[in-house]
This record gives sequence, structure tokens and C-alpha cells, in this order.
Amino acid sequence: MQASDGRRRDTVSVDLGQRTYDIHIGENLLREAGCLIAPLLNRPFTAIVTDENVARHHLKALEASLAAAGITSVAIILPSGEKTKSFAALADLCEQLLAAGVERRDKITAFGGGVIGDLTGFAAAILRRGIEFIQIPTTLLAQVDSSVGGKTGINSAHGKNLIGAFLQPIKVLADTSLLETLPRRELAAGYAEVAKYGLLGDLSFFEWLEANAGILLRGDAQARAYAIRQSCSAKAAIVAEDETEQGVRALLNLGHTFGHALESATGYSNRLLHGEGVAIGMVQAFRFSEHLKHCKPGTADRVAKHLKAAGLPTHMHDIEGPLPPIADLVAIMRQDKKAQGGKLAFILARAIGDAFIAKNIPDSAVADFLAEDLKRK
Ligand code: NAD
Ligand code: GLY
Repeated sequence: MQASDGRRRDTVSVDLGQRTYDIHIGENLLREAGCLIAPLLNRPFTAIVTDENVARHHLKALEASLAAAGITSVAIILPSGEKTKSFAALADLCEQLLAAGVERRDKITAFGGGVIGDLTGFAAAILRRGIEFIQIPTTLLAQVDSSVGGKTGINSAHGKNLIGAFLQPIKVLADTSLLETLPRRELAAGYAEVAKYGLLGDLSFFEWLEANAGILLRGDAQARAYAIRQSCSAKAAIVAEDETEQGVRALLNLGHTFGHALESATGYSNRLLHGEGVAIGMVQAFRFSEHLKHCKPGTADRVAKHLKAAGLPTHMHDIEGPLPPIADLVAIMRQDKKAQGGKLAFILARAIGDAFIAKNIPDSAVADFLAEDLKRK
């Protein structure tokens, strides 16, 4: 599909019966946000939830687009960063939404990265016992992953994303032009989730990424749009099959059990971004798969080489500062949502593009593997 300015537009649907929604992908889509959102509203009003960085770069453009379509908006601007996925920030956001006069049938708009999307979605799930929300993701990570699929929530002292709800957005607008202001480190962090789709289930997409990651990361619009469309299509298919993660959706957690533990161990700080934790975790998942003889030696090296070339950390040694002892890392992993009856579960792989869920992994096997991995140069 082409917009009036000749630019390409793509649409991916997340097929969930009456709750089916579209993900629109394209350059300068923000200009069309008002027109795309207006038909969804009960009255011409929305509350925009964003963070200080996104507000500085892009809020005026969104407000103008909404105003041009006759939509009044109020903006709630939160501090940026993972610490905003907290109970304190959730309480503050809910109070601000109520103070702004948000009613039961209004829709709120999450305008930011995964932090803003996850927090705003959770606020929508509980405000006035549930209102609807729209996602306008502004990071690569949010455009390929967090804005799609309806997982919303906040972190706990016990671990990541442990408090939340499923609530699907009613529309996702992924404007690829917004990525132009994204810092290079954040772009690479988002790229880890793009690579994830190839690694978990699509060897040919991974091979395409091996050939095209360079131009994608340098800003090639077509390569970005293609990778975002492929990622969203892969996620949409999995979510349509298993919305609440009773089975296959767990594959989307490739690298996350290791990665979440490292994020928690580093205090959700700038030492390790979420996508960076996922990158290290995915390499560990492939090394663990080799260690358990599920996949051929050399596979993890290929994964690591690719992620490293994209500017990502690929080993615990790449994290600055001390990490807790292995036993503490394994204890953090026990909070992982895939754990059952106290036994850990991991997403492992038989090959690139062939991931599977491995249950009942003994703590000792994980600890042995981590000890071996720490000795690696
Ligand atoms: P983020 O939301 O913290 O954004 C990263 C940084 O980029 C922030 O400093 C933000 O202010 C800034 N930023 C955002 N857009 C910008 C832009 N266009 N220009 C300039 N700066 C911009 O982080 P993220 O990586 O987008 O998301 C990570 C979060 O997503 C984690 O909490 C993770 O758990 C969550 N997540 C959720 C899901 C899900 O399914 N719900 C999936 C994957 C990740
Ligand atoms: N990012 C994991 C999921 O959406 O299930």
C-alpha cells in the first residue's frame, strides 16, 4: 500500500476474533496518526502517555496530527528508563489519567518505547476496571515486539514483568521515521529482538539479517520496514495461536530467562539495557543447547558473531562491574514465569530457526553451564 506522498505502508493484523487489530508500519506515519485514531474514539479526546525523551523529539508532531483530525489531547510526560515500570510510577500515572478526566470509554495512547507501552497498557487494564489503549511505539524494540501482543506490566523487587495483565491494544502505529532520533545503543538493543525471530523460528530471516543488518542499522528505510514487518508477522501468528502463553508463545522468551536474571542482577540500570540482556541471554541459550548436546557445536559462535557485529554485548564479561555469584543468578531465575513446581524451563534450540521449550531443567545443570560459560574468554 502507498500513502499520498508515495511512501510505502504495510499492515499486519493480529487475528484475535472480535479483538483483532492492525499494526500499521511506515515512514512518517505520525502525520496520519490523527486520521487513523479518530474512527476508534468514543469522543474526540485521548490522553497521550509518553516519556521525556520522546516528548522532546516527537510530542508536538503527534499533538499536531491529532489536532488536525479534530482530536483534543492531554500529554502525561514520565521519566524515561526501566525504573518507570514500577508501582510508584503506575500509581502516579493512574492518578494523572483520572485528573485529566479520562472516562471509561476513552482510549489512551502509549507513545514511547517498551517501558511506556508496558506501563500504559497496565494502567489501561486497571483504570476504571479497564479501558482501551493505542500503541505508538517509538523504539525498534517496541515496534517489533513490545507494542504487539498485549503483555503489559511492571517490574517487582523479585524480578522483571512479574506484575501485569494481558490487554491487547486496539491499534499499533509503527512510524519507522521515529527511529532516526533513537540513540545507537538503543537501536542495537532493539535489534536483538529482531534477531530473536530468526533465531527462534525462521532460518531464512536470520540469513537475510546476516546479509542486511549493516544497512538496517545504518538507517536503510526499506530494510527497516522489511525487518519490522517480518518480526510483527511472526509475533502476530504466535499471539493469535497462544494469546496467554499456555504453550508456543513461550518461544518468544528465547534468551529471556538468562537476560532477565542479568537485568535484575544489574538493578535495571544503564549497565544493561533489556535488549542487551536478551542478546547475551540468546547466546547463552545456544551455548546451553550445545552444552546439553541439543545443537551442533559452532551454532552459538555464529549467533554471537552476528549479534556482536550489530554492536551488542554477547557475554556476561561484556557487562561492566561485578555480577552476583552464580547461585544468586539461578535463584533469580526461579522467579521466571516458565518455572513450574520450582523447576526451571528454558527456550533451547536444535539449530538456528528451531527453538523449543525445555522443561524440568535442574538448577545444578544451569549452575554448571554458567560456571563453564564464565570461564570462556
Ligand atoms: P525504553 O522504553 O526505556 O526506551 C529506550 C530509551 O529510548 C528511553 O530512554 C526512551 O526515552 C528513549 N526513546 C524512545 N523512543 C525514542 C525516540 N524515538 N528517539 C529518542 N529516544 C527515544 O526501552 P525499550 O527498549 O523500548 O523497551 C524495553 C522494555 O520493553 C522492557 O521493560 C521490556 O521488559 C519490555 N518488553 C515488553 C515486551 C512485551 O511483550 N510487552 C516485549 C519486549 C520487551
Ligand atoms: N515478548 C514476549 C511476548 O510477548 O510473549
